[in-house]
Amino acid sequence: MRHIEPKDLSISEVLSLLLGGINPRPIALVATISENGNNNLAPFSFFNAFGANPPIVAFSPSSRVRDGSHKDTYHNLKRTKECTIQVVTFDMVEQVNLASTEYETGIDEFVKSGLTPIPSDLVKSARVKESPFQMECRLNQIVYLGEGKGSGNLMICEVIKFHIDEWIMEDNQIDPFKMDLVARNGANYYTRASGDAIFEVERPLLTKGIGYDQLPESMKLSSIFTGNDLAKFGNSEKIPSHQEVCAFIEQMEKKLPIDPELEPEHLLERAIRDSDYEMMLLVGMYLKKQNHLRAKTIIERAAQVALHNNQREFAWNAAMLSIQFDH
Ligand SMILES: Cc1cc2nc3c(=O)[nH]c(=O)nc-3n(C[C@H](O)[C@H](O)[C@H](O)COP(=O)(O)O)c2cc1C
Repeated sequence: MRHIEPKDLSISEVLSLLLGGINPRPIALVATISENGNNNLAPFSFFNAFGANPPIVAFSPSSRVRDGSHKDTYHNLKRTKECTIQVVTFDMVEQVNLASTEYETGIDEFVKSGLTPIPSDLVKSARVKESPFQMECRLNQIVYLGEGKGSGNLMICEVIKFHIDEWIMEDNQIDPFKMDLVARNGANYYTRASGDAIFEVERPLLTKGIGYDQLPESMKLSSIFTGNDLAKFGNSEKIPSHQEVCAFIEQMEKKLPIDPELEPEHLLERAIRDSDYEMMLLVGMYLKKQNHLRAKTIIERAAQVALHNNQREFAWNAAMLSIQFDH
């Protein structure tokens, strides 16, 4: 590990550490009205939502590292107390990047980027047509997070109207796969929230999971189960009883012996390829009967694959069966 105190770095080094370490960050595409009445548009990734009642979002147009001056968005929002904020999708990212150019004050970045301004209902700032999620906002307060070069200016805004493209909705919820959002990483990197990058994690049980500490020691010592696997086991209401595990084993044993024509290794290879956790378990049980050294590992792998497929009951029973090797 490197251990660094910010006082030992330059401001731009501190900034690049923050940008590199805290990411991917959501991007607010903020539209305001300039002093001469023109549209102004710029992206900000020091951005998030902070409350629902009232709906509060905040972003920080920092003072420039170069000379400590404030950005146009800061001046416009401070003066007019209004803006629109929209999210950024993959299809818009290059235009949004272009909109981040430090054009002279009064230059309309809608024109420069080619993004389309559309009128808002409650504020004067335009909305960005290409974004599927737009918010009309009123400035609530500015929190100054320092003074001079690189200091943050937290613009805390209340959302007074949401505009959501019907196309991104599924069962009255926003579908992240349809949204196709991008987020900001460090340097020139972005993250696209699509495909495998989006995955589900089951919320902690309302009834409260047993927790990592209650898991059998042998599961915690396993070289197969990862920290994620153990936490998923820990998010269960209870450990199956001895009777439940026995009933499970009995049921599985009825499916034995496995095809004697085929080599267990061959079966196992196929089961792993197909994520067939039941076949993995059967091969493990077959090898167990032969006192094969790999049996425990294979049964734990079966439990793990079942867990990854959200077959929690099967996973628990298989994990408890693997514990029997320790006695
Ligand atoms: C994706 C992205 C995220 C950005 N995030 C921030 C940010 O959080 N804070 C900031 O001060 N500048 C940020 N910038 C730079 C501003 O967009 C840039 O300084 C812009 O010219 C400001 O425009 P304005 O002067 O019209 O307000 C970001 C740029 C990009 C491309």
